[in-house]
Amino acid sequence: MMTNGTSKVFGVMGCPVGHSISPMMHNFFAEQTETDMIYVAFPVQPEGLRDAVRGAYALGIQGINVTVPHKQAVMDCLCGVDEGARVIGAVNTLVRTEQGYQGYNTDAEGLFRALQEEGMEIAGKTCILLGAGGAAKAAAYVLAREQAACVYILNRSEERGRKLAQEMNGLFGREIFQALGLADWGEIHENHCLAVQTTSVGMHPNEEGILIEAPAFYEKLDMAFDAIYTPEETRFLAMAKAAGAKTANGLGMLIYQGVAAYELWHPDKKLSAEVIAGARELLLHHLEGRE
Ligand code: ATR
Repeated sequence: MMTNGTSKVFGVMGCPVGHSISPMMHNFFAEQTETDMIYVAFPVQPEGLRDAVRGAYALGIQGINVTVPHKQAVMDCLCGVDEGARVIGAVNTLVRTEQGYQGYNTDAEGLFRALQEEGMEIAGKTCILLGAGGAAKAAAYVLAREQAACVYILNRSEERGRKLAQEMNGLFGREIFQALGLADWGEIHENHCLAVQTTSVGMHPNEEGILIEAPAFYEKLDMAFDAIYTPEETRFLAMAKAAGAKTANGLGMLIYQGVAAYELWHPDKKLSAEVIAGARELLLHHLEGRE
């Protein structure tokens, strides 16, 4: 891609960041929409985060994605934080304003759009959220916002699950979240559930990992989403599929968090379904070569 003196600069800050697929995705979006910009990876150590954000602003950098381990810490380096990001307690996208960078969380939006694309309707559904960490919190926010009938949080540490349930029930002013230990899934009496798996258990190279082994658990599911995208099918998704559930991996979430960031940075541009499908092809090809 050709850049010149007027090219706008975007990037991703993380540690490590060398394996990030965001540069590939955003440069593809730029090329397809003929946007004069370049997107690069910035390795930033935790102790250098504040200087990096200040320096990026001084350099005129237009927008930044923020990834592990900076998603919480970066919130102290911004001029403001959007409502969703504040509730989730994590920021993954910075948008330049005259006052500084404004923080957003497009992970939640990415999950929402990925579920929508798969026809995985949340409203009125009994949901099962696996995990209670940072990714689970973004998912919990989406499930509550989109009117899930109730959400069971299954987590190894029941205490952490309970804290998340309490916090979310407080935020949304309804008792929709209930925490259970991983072994207590039998207390869920509903069937036709939507399960959202947010932990790293089962991720490459530990592909044998799975949070719940019992086939009877998967009989409860109509739909199963796994935030993991390598391998393409985790054991969790394979068991859900074997039980007859519709399944989707995390690649859609990854792509749509990028699409949502792109839209925040370029409100006048729209990414077509063809461009998004093209990005999916490109990333799939890249991930296959990497495994
Ligand atoms: P992230 O931001 O990616 O969600 P995190 O905040 O560290 O990461 O959360 C990790 C989640 O994966 C937690 O729900 C964690 O369970 P605990 O709260 O009990 O620690 C879950 N997790 C990680 N490794 C696990 C394992 N081997 N077995 C079960 N759960 C695991």
